[in-house]
Amino acid sequence: MQGKRADLWVLPEFFAAGYKYESKKEVSSVAESLNGPTVSALRDYSLKHGSAIAAGFVEKSGGKFYNSAVLVDGRKTHLYRKTHLFGNEKKYFSPGNTGFQVWKVKGVSVGLMICFDWFFPEAARTLALKGAQIVLHPANLVLPWGPAAMITRSLENRVFSVTANRVGLERGLRFIGKSQIVSPRGKVLASAPSGSAAVCVSAIDPALAFNKNVTPANHLFRDRRAKLYLNT
Ligand code: ACM
Repeated sequence: MQGKRADLWVLPEFFAAGYKYESKKEVSSVAESLNGPTVSALRDYSLKHGSAIAAGFVEKSGGKFYNSAVLVDGRKTHLYRKTHLFGNEKKYFSPGNTGFQVWKVKGVSVGLMICFDWFFPEAARTLALKGAQIVLHPANLVLPWGPAAMITRSLENRVFSVTANRVGLERGLRFIGKSQIVSPRGKVLASAPSGSAAVCVSAIDPALAFNKNVTPANHLFRDRRAKLYLNT
């Protein structure tokens, strides 16, 4: 990571495998299990440097393909499978079945969502309701609104968010870059350019995500009117 150090890294969706597939055969040629070369390399890095890493990979499991991400912390590996598949991903991948989970890393509660999950506020809200202080967001963003929406996701849930996106062109698809780290008050703490690769690091106080008071009279979770919301 360009000689920088961090307790926790976030890499893009499918960071080592490319994104735009045109056949199941292509997907199959890069798909791997949790013991495959990509996750093993992340584990080796984590063990060597003492950093946790969240990153996307093409997963094969039980004869199905998933758009997945792992959170690797030393010998521990946690798995998330993308819930909301985008565009042509629906042709090749099964919708994720892991749900949104929260894990402790170095004493901090974190959860994963992948790219287009940003369009569904329920994803970040579920992670926040489950206690996530940091939402880890590996991405291959192509729609222009993702970075701005993630500022809102952070603000409306009072969580940190870390979006790690790609740049450049793959088979005619342009990724918008603009990776960012956002505070629970919606402040952009670090941001990357749209057209070139970058590594962003920010020191944060994760405890700030425990404060869910919007005003002294308004608590983000206690003010919810869950009975009035659609319950499907
Ligand atoms: C996306 O979900 N990769 C756009």
